[in-house]
Amino acid sequence: MRGGGGCGEGAGGGPAYRVGSMFAGIGGICLAFRDAGAEMVWANELDHLACETYRKNFGSEYLVEGDVRGIDPSSVPDMDVLTAGFPCQAFSVAGYRKGFGDDRGALFFEVVRMIGAKSPRAVLLENVKNLVGHDEGRTFESVLQCLRGRGYSVAHAVLNSKDCGGVPQNRERVYIAAFRDPADMEGFAFPPPVPLEIGIRDVADPSVRGDPSLYYTEKSPIYAALDAAMGSPDSVYQWRRTYVRENKSGVCPTLTANMGGGGHNVPLIRDRFGIRKLSPEECLGFQGFPPGFAFAEMSASHKYRQAGNSVSVPVVRRIAENMILAMRRADGRRPLS
Ligand SMILES: C[S@@+](CC[C@H](N)C(=O)[O-])C[C@H]1O[C@@H](n2cnc3c(N)ncnc32)[C@H](O)[C@@H]1O
Repeated sequence: MRGGGGCGEGAGGGPAYRVGSMFAGIGGICLAFRDAGAEMVWANELDHLACETYRKNFGSEYLVEGDVRGIDPSSVPDMDVLTAGFPCQAFSVAGYRKGFGDDRGALFFEVVRMIGAKSPRAVLLENVKNLVGHDEGRTFESVLQCLRGRGYSVAHAVLNSKDCGGVPQNRERVYIAAFRDPADMEGFAFPPPVPLEIGIRDVADPSVRGDPSLYYTEKSPIYAALDAAMGSPDSVYQWRRTYVRENKSGVCPTLTANMGGGGHNVPLIRDRFGIRKLSPEECLGFQGFPPGFAFAEMSASHKYRQAGNSVSVPVVRRIAENMILAMRRADGRRPLS
């Protein structure tokens, strides 16, 4: 485990802030907070295979595998920051959008339950951009109200990974930062845009042969259509039922959990050796995971789902750095007790 155990020193000196993560998935948010200098003390995730990948990269010290609805908060350690990328299907454009009326949407109230029980100093929530406009803004207002009603100051921003994370993926997500103490909020701002300095080739190198299973052959019924439409090695393409869509912005389209449904949902590139799907590892690369991060042993479809379900790590790391900085500044101003 890299830089996690014990009550270590946080970045910039002083004790590391303790972080807990609900709906932890494979740990994208955890990785970001850890890289920002925080200490992971608790995480929960239901999906066994996501837990397998989590344990492979973070060890098994503090991850609780199981349904969050069965978790007794008294078994959860105290924490400074609670994070949650709560399930988004109920709010996403692609889903049925029943919001809190959907079992998966109602899982947000598990976050509220945990905040009520643990009273963390700060909270970071992440979800699809569509949460903001869902039900004409009423759903989002309820989310913010739940936090304000518990005494938190709240800020939110929709950030795109290609603008704020330095990764070539078009991924807009809403991030909600909340602080119990207004002094913490005073010193906090969401990170500003940064220039995108890497392109598609830096993540999916067209001069390197991919795994043979990724390539389309002429036997595929859609090969001719792909071959005709996919001209550039600097674009990522998508097969859309009957046609090929080119992402002309020079970045990868939003990676989604339904890439795990197999079929043609996985974005495509043309490399020197043919036409192929991105590999699950390249999908992690487009999310800004470091090369050392590895999936546990499982089928490719599960790996794709895990990568699409996760977050762009550098975006969350920049937010985490700013949250930590804000708390440190406020701590510096507080008289010693
Ligand atoms: C959007 S993903 C979050 C991914 C995470 N932020 C990451 O970086 O990988 C939501 C996660 O919530 C998990 N989940 C869904 N229902 C759950 C439940 N009842 N209890 C615990 N986890 C649950 C899913 O398995 C999924 O991994």
